[in-house]
Amino acid sequence: MGRVERALVDALGGESGAAAQSSGNNHRAGLQPISVSPLQGRQLTWLARSVGARRILEVGTLGGYSTVCLAEALPPDGYLLTVDNNPIHHTVARQNIDQAGLAGIVELALGNALDVLSQLVAVRAEPFDVFFVDADQHNNVEYFHLCLALARPGSLFLLDNVVRNGEVCDLETRNEAVRATQRCLEELRADPSLFDAVIFQNVGGKGHDGLLAVRVLGQE
Ligand code: SAH
Ligand code: DHB
Ligand code: MG
Repeated sequence: MGRVERALVDALGGESGAAAQSSGNNHRAGLQPISVSPLQGRQLTWLARSVGARRILEVGTLGGYSTVCLAEALPPDGYLLTVDNNPIHHTVARQNIDQAGLAGIVELALGNALDVLSQLVAVRAEPFDVFFVDADQHNNVEYFHLCLALARPGSLFLLDNVVRNGEVCDLETRNEAVRATQRCLEELRADPSLFDAVIFQNVGGKGHDGLLAVRVLGQE
């Protein structure tokens, strides 16, 4: 974490005990250091809480750091489903969620998120209030469409890593992850009556990146 971010997080009261514990466990387990940062974690908690989320769907668990941050916004009878296709990540996350006392409201699915979400659409799963997509970024258009099929008017769709040190502005890029972000933005722009979208830029230890936040419109 960068010096400024550390100071800002501390000024806001620090990470929750469960978040800090997960972060330490993830580091000890040798997971890649690509969890959301502590300040982004607080942003996720804040966003989910501010829309009164009761049901959250996450794509890309890793060790469950962002999962813990999102789950902390839920009421005691809330529900969070998080999906990851890596069995090692799944196992570390399982331990973190258990240790955080969140096993009662968090379900960890092991599998390809495209399959898991398609299956949820097929069984007409109850809509989710908040989506957080943070996985294989080249599939972000597919994830966006699947999440829309699992949304209700008023749902909040959150997508990580949409700025990538400014590469999102390079219309010639061959980076499939960035191209997927660009396509999502085109779809949002094409239908402003359906979507209310904003991007929060983030800067810190993980460089310059951003979070796309989309409110799905319609009759609420
Ligand atoms: N949200 C996490 C970080 C996720 S890192 C946090 O902030 O703490 C991205 C994760 O996506 C990795 O754990 C990787 O295993 C997972 N992933 C990549 N492709 C996937 C796919 N097709 N289906 C499910 N998970 C996938
Ligand atoms: C990186 C950061 C992320 O948030 C992510 O989901 C994947 C990769 C990175 O900094 O490389
Ligand atoms: Mg990310």
